[in-house]
Amino acid sequence: MDTIIKNGTVVTATDTYKADVGIANGKIVQIGENLAAVGAKVLDAGDKLVMPGGIDVHVHLQLPFCGTVSADDFENGTKAGACSGLTTVIDYAIQTKGQKLMDAITARRAEADPKVCVDYSLHGGITDWEIAQGEMDAIVEYGIPTFKMFMVYRSQGWMADDGSLLQALEATGRNGGRICVHAENDDAIQMLLKRYGPQAKELGAYGHAITRPNYTEQEAIARAALWAEVTGGRLYIVHMSTGEGADAVWAAQENGANVYAETCPQYLLLDDELFKGENGHLYGTCPQLRKPVDQERLWTGLQHGTVQVIGTDTCTFNTTQKAMWEGDFRKIPFGMPGVETMLPLMWHHGVNGGRITPNRFVQICSTNPAQIFGLYPQKGSIAIGFDADIVVWDPDREVTFNWEEMQTNCDWSPFQGQSVRGYSKWTLSRGEVVAEDGKFVGVVGHGRFVPRQPWGDL
Ligand code: URP
Ligand code: ZN
Ligand code: ZN
Repeated sequence: MDTIIKNGTVVTATDTYKADVGIANGKIVQIGENLAAVGAKVLDAGDKLVMPGGIDVHVHLQLPFCGTVSADDFENGTKAGACSGLTTVIDYAIQTKGQKLMDAITARRAEADPKVCVDYSLHGGITDWEIAQGEMDAIVEYGIPTFKMFMVYRSQGWMADDGSLLQALEATGRNGGRICVHAENDDAIQMLLKRYGPQAKELGAYGHAITRPNYTEQEAIARAALWAEVTGGRLYIVHMSTGEGADAVWAAQENGANVYAETCPQYLLLDDELFKGENGHLYGTCPQLRKPVDQERLWTGLQHGTVQVIGTDTCTFNTTQKAMWEGDFRKIPFGMPGVETMLPLMWHHGVNGGRITPNRFVQICSTNPAQIFGLYPQKGSIAIGFDADIVVWDPDREVTFNWEEMQTNCDWSPFQGQSVRGYSKWTLSRGEVVAEDGKFVGVVGHGRFVPRQPWGDL
């Protein structure tokens, strides 16, 4: 063994027990009491928890979007994730209309491979089904079994029509892929943008809230879920933000549809009153922030199992980029930072807040994402043969979020000044310590592209 994590308490999705964890060549090779440490590097995890590293299945690093490029790139974004305990991220390779999806994947890999500091994968973003349908099986075979389709962003050229969505879902029933949808009703939003656009100056950033009401997400989720049900397709709802959306997912699950849902810390912890503040435009993201009642319903969904995954939807825009809105909510670059705060926020508000157990924390932040997205049994647990992607978690460490001390390239934080208890002491990626006490100590380019398996399920 080259490294042993000693005296810690192992927490997995199902178990909690005291044990040492032995690592050799990037893999977990022994778990037991009093492992002999001869010649091995020892990390003393007394009083600390030894958990599988977090897996964030929803990030947009250096994404060209809304007339600019998101500010956390593959290097800095993966460093930021490592600092707080993430060991895998999944980004998106979005097809350019008229071109092959595989071309987008190749181009995105060329951007990411030399830069990533923890392991990563890509979802294929389908924007031209006529072309992508012929490539889908081969892309699944290549190791990318999940595909993003947008029910919005018509003007961006990304929106999928219902016929394409239906056919793509149908295909997943045959090839074991999964369609991840951004579910918002574009027609309704366009109508509201037309209606409220002329009042943009008076409405300020709150115009973003008014033009994306809950029903725009509810309807789109219910529609996508119905398409999954009638086709036998495999569906995943990204960044679910509303209580009504959670109800629609629950109803579809009760009907036997293969549908999972993700929510994000911002939808559990922030609400749309923020749009009324002086810097309300900074919080502009799609879907928009909702009401406290939605937050409660999403927490309940996490507790009851309707919602299975936490992702961040990291799409960082700094204050200069956000200033491109010039007082008009229709021009806000949509998105916010997230990778560096996900695990501490979920631990503090979820576990310390009495809403979820440590085991449920591991499920929704690591094991479920690994299983649904085809990374299991390589990642997502502490078990022999798994990659040694591990977070040694100090449940007593208090941190006050301050963007000036963080790794992110952002010059503001949605959680600025908030204190949390619980943070990574060490983050290990395939056995290498890549972050210590919230600071990156790893090597740029250490991360690898990880081919994933189809038919991921819980
Ligand atoms: O506003 C957001 N969420 N920006 C990133 C792109 C997306 O829709 O996920
Ligand atoms: Zn989205
Ligand atoms: Zn996103």
